[in-house]
Amino acid sequence: MLATKRVTLIIGGGIAAYKCLDLIRQLRAAGASVTPVLTRAATQFVTPMSVAALAGSQVYQDLFDLKDEAEMGHIQLSRASDLIVVAPATADLMAKMVGGHADDLASTLLLATDKPVLIAPAMNVRMWDHPATRRNLAQLRADGVQVIGPNSGDMACGEFGPGRMSEPAEIVAAIAAHTTPGPLTGKRVLVTSGPTHEPIDPVRYIANRSSGAQGTAIARALRALGAEVVFVTGPATVPPPEGVTLQRIETAREMLDACLAALPVDAAVMAAAVADWRIASDFTQKIKKGPQGIPELQLSENPDILATISTHTQRPRLVVGFAAETENVIAHATAKRARKGCDWIVANDVSPATGIMGGSENAVHLITETGTEDWPRLPKAEVATRLAARIAEALT
Ligand code: CTP
Repeated sequence: MLATKRVTLIIGGGIAAYKCLDLIRQLRAAGASVTPVLTRAATQFVTPMSVAALAGSQVYQDLFDLKDEAEMGHIQLSRASDLIVVAPATADLMAKMVGGHADDLASTLLLATDKPVLIAPAMNVRMWDHPATRRNLAQLRADGVQVIGPNSGDMACGEFGPGRMSEPAEIVAAIAAHTTPGPLTGKRVLVTSGPTHEPIDPVRYIANRSSGAQGTAIARALRALGAEVVFVTGPATVPPPEGVTLQRIETAREMLDACLAALPVDAAVMAAAVADWRIASDFTQKIKKGPQGIPELQLSENPDILATISTHTQRPRLVVGFAAETENVIAHATAKRARKGCDWIVANDVSPATGIMGGSENAVHLITETGTEDWPRLPKAEVATRLAARIAEALT
C-alpha cells in the first residue's frame, strides 16, 4: 500500500507515543520506510532503542549533533522524505508549528520542510478544547497541514472526550490516502451518520432504527477518493470507517456542536437520522412507577443541524441532506430541500416493507437544482460510491 514511500515520523512527548511503536511496525508492513525523529519529551515515553529497533533506522534527536548534521541534517531529513508525520502531535508541538519555532530538531525540520505534513493530535480534552489550540488547529489547516483525529473516548488522564490519538491503522490509512492522491485530495468533508439518542432519564432514551450503514459507507467512499473526512456519528450498530476523524456523540445537540466545530469544510453530507425532539425536562434520577401514575413526557424541538449548516456564514460549498420518508417520497423530499436550504437531497423510502432502514441496500432518488434522478436499488456501498463520485465532480 505504501511501497517505496519514505515517511519521517516525528514522535512528540505524550502518552500516546507508545502507539508509535505499533505505527512504525504497521508502516513498515505496508511497505514504507520510516525515519524516526524524537523530541526530548518523547524520550520520556518511548526509548530511542525500541524506536530504532522497530524502524530499522537510526533515531534522530538532536539538532546540534554534528555527526548527524554532517550525515543527515534537518534539510537532508526533509529531502529524504515523501511525507512528514507528527504523532502524537502535542499541543506544544502544534503551537510551535504555528509560531514557526525552530529550537529543536523536530520544530526545525517542520519549519524547513516543503513536503506534505500530516499530524495526529493527542492531548487532554481541555487542552484540545482550549481556544489557543482551536486557533492553532485552524491556522495549521490554513497552512495546508493535514490532520487525522483526534478520536473521542476514555483518556489516559481519566477524562473522556476528543483528544485520543487516532489508532495506528487509521494513521496508516490516512497516509495511504494522502500519498495516493484522488479527486478529493485536499478537500475536507463532514459526514454525519447513525441515530441520535435523546435521554429520558439516566437509564432510558428515545432512539430510532438507523444503523449508520449508509453514512459509514459514504464516509468510506469519500475517504477512498482522498477526502479528509470528519465523521460525526451517533450510537450506530456498524463500526466506523478507518482513516477518518471520528467524533462520537449521543444527542442532536452534541451532533450540532461537533458539526459546527468541524467547519470550515468543502462539503457536508448529513446522513444521520437525527431525533427531531428531545425530552423537555431534565430528569436527573430514574423515573419511578408510583401512585403519581403514568408520567407525561413533554417534548421540545431539537436544533435542525442540516438547516443550521446550510445557512451558516461558513456554509460549505456543497451541502447534501437526506430525506427519510414513508410516503410521497419525492414531493416531501423536494419540499425538504427548499425548506432546509441544502443543495442536494438523497431521498429514500424507509417504510418497514422496504427493509432499507437497518438493511444492506438502498433505493434513492437524488434531488438537485436540475431535477430528480431515480437510482436503482443498490447495496449501500454502491450508493455511497456513486454519491462520492458525484460529490467529487461537484467540487472539482
Ligand atoms: N436533520 C438534521 N437535524 C435534525 C433533523 C434532521 O440535520 N434535527 C437532517 C438529517 O440528517 C437529514 C435531513 O435533515 O439529512 C432530513 O431528515 P429527516 O428526518 O428526513 O427530516 P426531518 O427534518 O426530520 O423532517 P420530518 O421528520 O418532518 O420528515
